[in-house]
Amino acid sequence: MHDIDTGMLPTERESNGLSIRKYEPGDVAGIVEAVQESVPTVGAWLDWCNKGYGTAEAEAWITHAHESWDKGDSFVFAVSDATSGDYLGGVGLSRIDHEKLSANLGYWIRQSYQGRGVGTQAARLAVGYAFEVLKLTQIEVVCGAANRPSRRVAEKTGARFQGLASGRLTYHGKSIDAAVYTISAPAARRATA
Ligand SMILES: CC(C)(COP(=O)(O)OP(=O)(O)OC[C@H]1O[C@@H](n2cnc3c(N)ncnc32)[C@H](O)[C@@H]1OP(=O)(O)O)[C@@H](O)C(=O)NCCC(=O)NCCS
Repeated sequence: MHDIDTGMLPTERESNGLSIRKYEPGDVAGIVEAVQESVPTVGAWLDWCNKGYGTAEAEAWITHAHESWDKGDSFVFAVSDATSGDYLGGVGLSRIDHEKLSANLGYWIRQSYQGRGVGTQAARLAVGYAFEVLKLTQIEVVCGAANRPSRRVAEKTGARFQGLASGRLTYHGKSIDAAVYTISAPAARRATA
């Protein structure tokens, strides 16, 4: 991982009409629209998804995505319809540990596209990127313990449940219990076979 030139990495992966790709400046409007429609479901788990999220927040997110990509700190992707280009959500590999070859996986899908398999497919594409492109060896997923859809996405991506972690996540300043999962490359391959 140390020797990877992050500017030379592939910026997109696609399967069955779904794409995960590096963020672009043109994503601002799509992000804002997706965030705004998703406050009831995504905002129930992720603080930043709230009515106050607008153009400035989306621009800052894209800038952060590019800076952290360049440094190799995290690789976050826009999830989009490969045909129409519509913005459907985000998936990302963060907290990349170059010694342990590990990362944390996170995801969200805009409300009007939830429940159609998009989250699972996006997570699988990001996991493929982690193992095949970045050559990482272990991925952690930390979900709210009561966040059933998120836990199902992890499980359907090949994640192994490690246990509950009391207060590991925070939501609006309050600690909440988390379900911790890990994904290995063989388990991810089995999940997509
Ligand atoms: C978690 C999330 C990304 C799933 O996206 P998605 O596109 O709906 O996922 P899928 O369609 O692949 O479905 C995954 C599982 O969630 C279930 N699910 C989806 N929406 C659901 C809902 N509203 N209520 C209950 N279960 C739901 C699906 O039935 C499926 O489980 P199954 O295989 O047992 O049937 C999406 O719900 C989301 O953005 N949640 C808010 C953000 C979040 O919690 N992110 C996780 C942080 S780690």
